[in-house]
Amino acid sequence: MRKNLLMWDQTLFKDIEVFDIDFIPGQFDYRDTQIERLAFAVKPALIGGKVLNTICRGIPGTGKTTSVRKFFDEVEETTKKIIPIHINCQIDSTEYAIFSRIYTRLTGNSAPPGGTAFKALIDMVAKYIAKEEITPLICLDDANYLIYSKEFNNVLYAVLRIHEVYENVSLGVIVVISDPDILMEEVIDARVASVFRYETINFEPYSAAEVAGILSQRTLQGLYPNVLSSEHMDMIVDRTMQCGDVRIGLDLIKRSVMEAEINARLGVTTEDIQKAFSASRDMHLSGMINSLAADELQVLGQIVKMTSPEKFITTGDVRRAMPKNTATPKLTRFNDIIDKFNNIHLISMGYANKGEGRKRYVNLRDDKNRVEKLLRKKTGLKM
Ligand SMILES: Nc1ncnc2c1ncn2[C@@H]1O[C@H](COP(=O)(O)OP(=O)(O)OP(=O)(O)O)[C@@H](O)[C@H]1O
Ligand SMILES: [Mg+2]
Repeated sequence: MRKNLLMWDQTLFKDIEVFDIDFIPGQFDYRDTQIERLAFAVKPALIGGKVLNTICRGIPGTGKTTSVRKFFDEVEETTKKIIPIHINCQIDSTEYAIFSRIYTRLTGNSAPPGGTAFKALIDMVAKYIAKEEITPLICLDDANYLIYSKEFNNVLYAVLRIHEVYENVSLGVIVVISDPDILMEEVIDARVASVFRYETINFEPYSAAEVAGILSQRTLQGLYPNVLSSEHMDMIVDRTMQCGDVRIGLDLIKRSVMEAEINARLGVTTEDIQKAFSASRDMHLSGMINSLAADELQVLGQIVKMTSPEKFITTGDVRRAMPKNTATPKLTRFNDIIDKFNNIHLISMGYANKGEGRKRYVNLRDDKNRVEKLLRKKTGLKM
C-alpha cells in the first residue's frame, strides 16, 4: 500500500483560483513606477486639462493588463470625471466594435440602436461625453491585433478626431502592445501622427528574483505549506524565465500540483513539473493552432512537412510546393499568412539578399514533431 494516500476530498490547494489566468492578485509588486506614470498622464484631466496618451509596451506576461486594471480601479475610486474603459482588441477588433463598446460602457445601454451607422455612433458618443462633462479613458489592450488587421490607424484616428470635431470633448488613450517587433514609427500613418502625441511606458521583463517573488506570493495564498519545496520552486522559476511569461509559472504550479494530487502525493516532485511543462507548452501551441483558419492550417502544414534539420526553407519554396488548387491561398494572402505566423511567433524569419531578389527563410519556433502532432489533432488529416 502506498503511504500518505490523499483522501478523495482532500486537496493540496488552499485556493486554486489564485492560479487562474484572469485572477487579479491583491498584492501586485514591481510595477509601481509604471502605474505612477499612468497616474501622471491622467492627472491633468482632473484639473480641467487633457490626458496625456500613453503606449504601454512589454512582452506577454509582464503585468501590463493587470497594471492598467489596478490603475483603473484607483481612478474609479478617486473621481467620477474620468471614465476608464478597458477594451480587449482581440475581441473587439474593428472600429465599429470598439465604439460600440465605448458607447455601451458610457451609457449603460446594452448596444447602440440597430442599424446605427458608424458616423452616427461617434456622434452619439461625443454628445454623451459633452453632456455629462466626463473624460473617457480608453485602454486599447492587445492593440497589436489591431495593427495586424490594419485597423489601428482607423481606430486611433476616430478616437482622436472626436476632440477636433466636437469642442470641449476629449478622450485619453492607453495603448497596450505586447509584440516587441512592432515599430510605432512604421505603424502610425501621417494622418494619425499629426494628432497623436504619446509617451511610452516600458514594462521590462521580470528578473528571476521578481518572478520568484510573484510565484512565491501566489503559492503562499493558493497552496498548503510544504506542497512545493524551494528547490522545485527554483525549477519552475527557471522554466518561467526561459519563456519570459509569468503565466507559464502560474500554470506550471497549478498543473504540477494537480499531477501530485492525481498520484495521491502530498508534495510536488521533479517528474510532476516535467510533465506539467510539456502539457503547458502543448496548451499554448494548440491554442494558437486552434485559432487558425483553413488556409492558414494548410500553409502551416506545408511548412511542417518541409522542415528538416538539413535544409533551410524559404517562403518561395513553401509556396511552390503547395498544391495548385482553388483552396490554396493566392500570393498576397500567402504573404499575409506568413507575416501572421511571424507575428504570433509560430515561426521566425531570416532574410538574405541572393541573386535577383530578397529571400525570406522560415523556421518553426517549436519542435516539428510537437507542431505536427497538434496540427494532426486539429485537422484530423494525415500529413
Ligand atoms: N507584478 C506582478 N505581481 C503579481 N502577479 C503578476 C505580476 N505581473 C504579472 N502577474 C500575473 O501574470 C499574469 C500575466 O499578467 P498580465 O496579464 O498583466 O500581463 P500582460 O503584460 O498584460 O500580458 P499580455 O501581453 O500577454 O497580455 C497575470 O495572471 C498576472 O496576475
Ligand atoms: Mg495583457
